[in-house]
Amino acid sequence: MAELEVWNNERRSGENDLSGRLVTLIDPTSVAAEAYRTLRTNLLYALVDNPPKVIVMTSPGPQEGKSTTCANLGIVLAQADKRTLILDCDLRKPVVHKVFGLRNIRGIVDVLVGQRRVEDVWQEPLLGLKVLPVGPLPPNPAELLSSRRFAEFIASVRKQFDYVLIDAPPIGLVSDPAVLATQGDGVLLVLDAQKTRKTALRESMRSLEAVGANVLGTVMNNIKKGKGGYYGYRYE
Ligand SMILES: Nc1ncnc2c1ncn2[C@@H]1O[C@H](COP(=O)(O)OP(=O)(O)OP(=O)(O)O)[C@@H](O)[C@H]1O
Ligand SMILES: [Mg+2]
Repeated sequence: MAELEVWNNERRSGENDLSGRLVTLIDPTSVAAEAYRTLRTNLLYALVDNPPKVIVMTSPGPQEGKSTTCANLGIVLAQADKRTLILDCDLRKPVVHKVFGLRNIRGIVDVLVGQRRVEDVWQEPLLGLKVLPVGPLPPNPAELLSSRRFAEFIASVRKQFDYVLIDAPPIGLVSDPAVLATQGDGVLLVLDAQKTRKTALRESMRSLEAVGANVLGTVMNNIKKGKGGYYGYRYE
């Protein structure tokens, strides 16, 4: 597996305040914000021959930092003048709109069922960054994500953007991330240094390999500060 990036980040206080997760906006000089920029650099330059454009963020289990990573990576890509779209594809428990303080009346579900054009639905919380929330929760998330309509939708946004970041649910719980992984160019596996178990990681890798997903690397979230400062980068 190509180790794209492993970064350090402390959980910040007030973590229930969702907009407080946008560390790249509220605290751009912090170690965490710098780590997101390093992740961006690796994405931009590490894979020059075959640069991934449509990137799926997932993790073995719940609450490991997928949506937070997706939002901050989207921000730093936009700050580097990359036309970026964040797609909330957690059709069961969407949060991306909350992280950006956006409304979730219309979203990707309306586009997929043909009720709305994507241009009428996406929102632009900052210059160069479009965000497409979920909209009304669908009764059949897995079916919707494996539909031909979804594949066509991804093909069309791929042409309009430099990067499309897909926020997915955890792999261990539902089949949606595996389905999404087949639509993207690569998967970033978000791990929580305190929480993710090795067995869960191995299981996730197996499920992703089974569908032929291209795992770009892992993002290590929530690394605690050690005595000698941050643990720093750890390549596996
Ligand atoms: N880098 C971070 N700084 C501060 N808080 C964080 C960070 N990463 C994650 N958190 C906190 O951890 C929790 C889970 O984060 P997040 O929603 O990004 O995870 P997730 O993997 O998308 O969860 P889910 O499986 O529910 O979709 C949230 O309460 C969030 O505020
Ligand atoms: Mg999430």
